[in-house]
Amino acid sequence: MASDVSVVILAAGQGTRMKSRIAKVLHEAGGKPLIEHSLDAAAVIAPMSRVFVVVGHQAEAVGEVAGRSGARTILQAEQLGTGHALLCGRDALSKLGGRLVIFYGDGPLLRGATLDRLLALQNEAGTAAAMLTTEVEDPTGYGRVLRAPSGDVSEIVEHKAATPEQLLVREINPGVYSFDADAFWRYIGELTTDNPAREYYLTDMIAIFIRHGLRVAALKIADATELLGINNRVELAEADRILRARKARELMIEGVTIERPETVTIDKDARIGMDTVVSAFARITGKTVIGENCRIGAHAVLENCEIGDGVEIFPFSMVSASKVEAKAHVGPFARLRMNAYMGEGAHVGNFVELKKTHLGAGSKSMHLAYLGDSEIGSKVNIGAGTITCNYDGQKKHATNIGDGAFIGSNSTLVAPVAIAGGAYIGAGSVITDNVPAHSLALGRARQVVKEGWKKSNKSRTDQTG
Ligand code: UD1
Ligand code: CA
Repeated sequence: MASDVSVVILAAGQGTRMKSRIAKVLHEAGGKPLIEHSLDAAAVIAPMSRVFVVVGHQAEAVGEVAGRSGARTILQAEQLGTGHALLCGRDALSKLGGRLVIFYGDGPLLRGATLDRLLALQNEAGTAAAMLTTEVEDPTGYGRVLRAPSGDVSEIVEHKAATPEQLLVREINPGVYSFDADAFWRYIGELTTDNPAREYYLTDMIAIFIRHGLRVAALKIADATELLGINNRVELAEADRILRARKARELMIEGVTIERPETVTIDKDARIGMDTVVSAFARITGKTVIGENCRIGAHAVLENCEIGDGVEIFPFSMVSASKVEAKAHVGPFARLRMNAYMGEGAHVGNFVELKKTHLGAGSKSMHLAYLGDSEIGSKVNIGAGTITCNYDGQKKHATNIGDGAFIGSNSTLVAPVAIAGGAYIGAGSVITDNVPAHSLALGRARQVVKEGWKKSNKSRTDQTG
């Protein structure tokens, strides 16, 4: 990162072709808004205090996302072209000096490392400007890169302004530039709207630099996918696919096994430790952190969770905003949410839900339970079908269960209620009163047996049977 580099990300346009009420750069790919990917790339080359986002359509919403990364905004109230976007930032930017890197906020695949390479090339070549170029099969819509006989870039012509001969050029402008800032601001006044779109074209700055005897270096990128710009939802899905594949590959290189990597959905900011195995169709999103040696089952969904080492998440479990300590087991078909916590070696099985519940180390709830707003100690056994009745129709209430307690199957724990350590709850109980330590509580009707009942009622049962 260089302290004399400033970055401007253009994001004022509406993105009409998205057919959306949401600004284009706020649509998500790879688990976050497009603009955040651009900001991530910017952060590689410049201090965030020198990163600016040009906003216009939905300026407030876009500005808020930019602000979260520490970037500042420039308002372009009316969009009169990519050159005009820079004119709007003249006051804020022209005193900064150094180098001015400009790219568009709808290109989420651009890597910070590529921007670094562009700056390095500009350094080596000692030129006043540098730009990326690439060759594509179908250059329709893009600005074409024209070269002088010497091979140097001479200008960019926009598709709409190109001659039939220029339209045949397949080397295009992906819209990523680095300018000597002082020269840029000295000459920006020379932009005109003398073109078919009647817009100020940023791309004209290349020819303007050359007219003033300055040179422009070009870094030609072999793999054009990095330069994909998003204009519609088909391209959005394509960018998402590429970002997911990139993330999966990165994790595999770092020692994570991924079964059928093309089926998993892992967000850019998720972290996964060595020797963890991720099964097909898993979805790991947000800032989830998974330790080493875990198994993440097929179709498991993990959002913003913290998972310790050696944890097994069995298939079809959903864990959100929760923490699971080492060697715990979750699922299949379990749900943890709203700050649920499982201590080391704790187990929850199929159709068990934990909400705002702390389940201590080594405790088990293996089947069919709802544990909400509960503080449960260690080595507790929760029988199948246990329900904490935490809601009285108005308020939520807490349930406390001490270490080593045993909760019989199909118990109904009416909160607020406390069951002290080592207590034993008989199966099928409805518990409304606190239970002292090491005692047995039974809260159900005693069984009644009527001997010979079947025989004496034979005719009646035969009819209904
Ligand atoms: C631009 C380039 C073209 C290049 C292509 C690459 C110009 C004149 N042309 O064309 O050479 O091949 O990108 O994708 O720059 N924006 C603003 N304010 C405006 C206009 C646009 O902030 O007044 C923003 C848009 O929100 C968008 C970006 O700039 O993020 C690019 O604008 P767009 O209209 O998509 O430019 P293209 O016509 O694709
Ligand atoms: Ca575009």
